Amino acid sequence: MKQPDETEAPASFSFDDSPIARELADLSARRKALEHATVQLTGRTRVLTISNQKGGVGKTTTTVNLAAALADRGARVLVIDLDPQGNASTALGVPHTAETPSVYDVLIDEFPLADIVQVSPESPNLLCAPSTIHLAGAEIELVSQVAREHRLRTAVEDYLEGLEERIDFILIDCPPSLGLLTINAFTAAGELLIPIQCEYYALEGLSQLLGTVRMIQKHLNPQLHLSTIILTMYDGRTRLAQQVADEVRAHFPQEVLETVIPRSVRVSEAPSFGQTVIAYDGQSAGAIAYREAAVEIIRRDSATKEGNA
Ligand SMILES: Nc1ncnc2c1ncn2[C@@H]1O[C@H](COP(=O)(O)OP(=O)(O)OP(=O)(O)O)[C@@H](O)[C@H]1O
Ligand SMILES: [Mg+2]
Repeated sequence: MKQPDETEAPASFSFDDSPIARELADLSARRKALEHATVQLTGRTRVLTISNQKGGVGKTTTTVNLAAALADRGARVLVIDLDPQGNASTALGVPHTAETPSVYDVLIDEFPLADIVQVSPESPNLLCAPSTIHLAGAEIELVSQVAREHRLRTAVEDYLEGLEERIDFILIDCPPSLGLLTINAFTAAGELLIPIQCEYYALEGLSQLLGTVRMIQKHLNPQLHLSTIILTMYDGRTRLAQQVADEVRAHFPQEVLETVIPRSVRVSEAPSFGQTVIAYDGQSAGAIAYREAAVEIIRRDSATKEGNA
């Protein structure tokens, strides 16, 4: 029997039909759409905590790239690095050696937040409250402190009160645990943003996270709500990624952003240059996705009649 010749292209084949050509055309259309997209900031400060007790799901990557994309849209953004690993501080190009005044001093010694905030070299709109290695001890030191769950909230409120210029967004990058640092973030924030990695076990642990959120709502911060889920490290070539994305969307139809963050080498390379992907390669697929996510997040809030202050 005659076998089909696999090397032979179909008669109608042209380079324009290839998957790469289609992907490039799609990306260029999305770039154009972004150029024309208009957004309106409300003038109100939105505080989002980026949390998931699962490690390595893209919390820090999402925090810094979203922050940079929001800043690029004209928003003034403060990133609070609440993870002793200090990855967000690194990615924003902000010094965070052991001697640097940091979030540790705010939580334990009640330093004003304004005293530790640094401006990222990337943009005057992008601020960072750095973490240092000392924060690793804060989880235990906080246990014996007065108002241990409210320390960050109080610091943020005092900071916002004393500011001359408005801040549009505060993004808090949490460590991969549900300890007192994360609880401080939940108490300080109005919104919870959960990054979910498109892989097996993606939804595992989510019910524990949401259970903790319900406890916080009941006892510490009734305003906190799950506003946003962002799918990260998506690889459209695998069926698993598509299945996970479909499943998450089925469970959380309102919360999941339309924008999906693709797995991209540029995104993973950027931090080693002390940069976000927006500065490192602003037209790459990962940067475009984070820019689209930023637009969606701004628009979702302007579409809400009453927000959480
Ligand atoms: N879209 C992406 N494409 C490629 N690599 C990515 C992407 N997002 C994240 N990564 C990589 O995955 C790893 C984990 O990401 P990240 O540090 O953001 O996760 P995390 O949830 O903050 O981790 P941790 O729980 O340790 O704080 C990093 O090496 C990061 O560079
Ligand atoms: Mg992290």
